[in-house]
Amino acid sequence: MKKYIFRYEILIPLVLLFILWESCEKDSGPYNITPPKPPVDTTDTTVNIYSVSYADDVQHIFNDHCIQCHNVNHPFLDLRESTSYHELWISGSHAPYVDTLDPANSKIYLHLEGVEMSQMPPDPPHLTDSLKQIIFTWMAEGAHDN
Ligand code: HEC
Repeated sequence: MKKYIFRYEILIPLVLLFILWESCEKDSGPYNITPPKPPVDTTDTTVNIYSVSYADDVQHIFNDHCIQCHNVNHPFLDLRESTSYHELWISGSHAPYVDTLDPANSKIYLHLEGVEMSQMPPDPPHLTDSLKQIIFTWMAEGAHDN
């Protein structure tokens, strides 16, 4: 009968492996994952998914701060209610003035900031940060005619 030899060089690594395995965090499944919230139903027109409204918020800023110059007599951009949306996207001289992917670099926003383009409105008071933010957010949300 073969004599049993106690092999420490095998036993010690095995013990170490066992300790390592024991110290590992055990998979505590089944997983408890909270299901994601259902997406907003975009077909339901009673739900307003936008925080900014073009008609109520953005046009309001144009009416208060821009249309005294940007009207039918302006050579480039008519920002009156009846025309502004179409002008900003298509018919203004240097349209589009909006950029939904990069609002900060849109022509209109650069003019509001007075960065690279002439500051608008040209004379103080310029738009406050919160008014600029409204126009920025409107673009980030897709610049819809909402
Ligand atoms: C006191 C008159 C005046 C007011 C107020 C004014 N603008 Fe202007 N705007 C101009 C003039 C003049 C130009 C053309 C010369 C220039 O680009 O500096 C112009 C040019 C622009 C342009 C560039 C048009 C192009 O095709 O090159 C944009 C965009 C613009 N304005 C946006 C605005 C917005 C938005 C407001 C209001 C927040 C505003 N402006 C208020 C006079 C005005």
